[in-house]
Amino acid sequence: MKRTRRLRVNESMRALVRETTVSISDLVYPIFVVEGKDQKNEIPSMPGIFQWSLDRLPEEMERVKKSGVKAVLLFGIPAHKDEKGSEAYNPDGIVQRAIRQIKQFDDSIVVIADVCLCEYTSHGHCGLIHGQEILNDETLPLLAKMAVTCAKAGADIIAPSDMMDGDVMTIRKALDENGFIHTAIMAYSAKYASGYYSPFRDAADSAPCFGDRKTYQMDVCNGREGIREVQKDIEEGADIVMVKPALAYLDVLHAVSEITDYPIAAYNVSGEYSMVKAASIHGWIDEKRIVMENMIAMKRAGAKILITYHALDVAEWLKGMEK
Ligand code: PBG
Ligand code: ZN
Repeated sequence: MKRTRRLRVNESMRALVRETTVSISDLVYPIFVVEGKDQKNEIPSMPGIFQWSLDRLPEEMERVKKSGVKAVLLFGIPAHKDEKGSEAYNPDGIVQRAIRQIKQFDDSIVVIADVCLCEYTSHGHCGLIHGQEILNDETLPLLAKMAVTCAKAGADIIAPSDMMDGDVMTIRKALDENGFIHTAIMAYSAKYASGYYSPFRDAADSAPCFGDRKTYQMDVCNGREGIREVQKDIEEGADIVMVKPALAYLDVLHAVSEITDYPIAAYNVSGEYSMVKAASIHGWIDEKRIVMENMIAMKRAGAKILITYHALDVAEWLKGMEK
């Protein structure tokens, strides 16, 4: 008889034939930085995740260091927003200062700067607007300026999340022209117009004040188009490509892994985090088990890099499993 149970008899045997693992080095931890002093504001829809002012950021960075996680993804929340998102490309803006501070704290941490205007614009859209229209080509130079200021501040990776056409190409050119030939680009390639971002929009105060993001983010019904977006970003010079959200888009993640050998990141977004947190707070699920299962699912589908608000917990659990 074919007996598949032979390889499941005990943990050592299961570990021997295990196809997928998660390592601390796969993890990226998102951090929100805010203007002001003595701020550690918990995001109500994201228990355990805070907005940090820079004077208190060292507390969070000590936790990161202790966990062993070596990469962070930064989002800035400025004090003043305007039509053009000026604070996004201020060389002394909140995110640029945070980058410098983290690099001073520990140069070996990979600092990834999210590049987009929505946290900085008064209207909350990812690009410039004219009336109700989101302007593509007029937005590109501003994204390039933000990318260059972040690279100057010490960012290792620039991650454009704006979904404007030509963003990766424009940013690559600007980085190169300014001498940042080794600053990598992680493109939010297959980024869907998803309902799973709503807790993030509370965290970053970035909800659009009119309309939605469906003229620039992808239609949730399209899988094949995700591959086209990835191919386009690779042609434009992306070093790492991303699928976002992760868990409702594992089909896209897997399809992408079949067509490219570039590193793939999966973004386990705010809404995915909040759902797990809410159910575990109620005692309806076992948080650790569910989170680890979700991490494995993303890796099994083809991701190398896991961007997740659970990163520090996952790191602690992985250390616990080694013992
Ligand atoms: C900014 C940006 C968003 C996220 C990452 N970068 C929000 C959005 O596009 O509305 C979402 C992250 C999350 O939900 O965790 N463009
Ligand atoms: Zn945006």
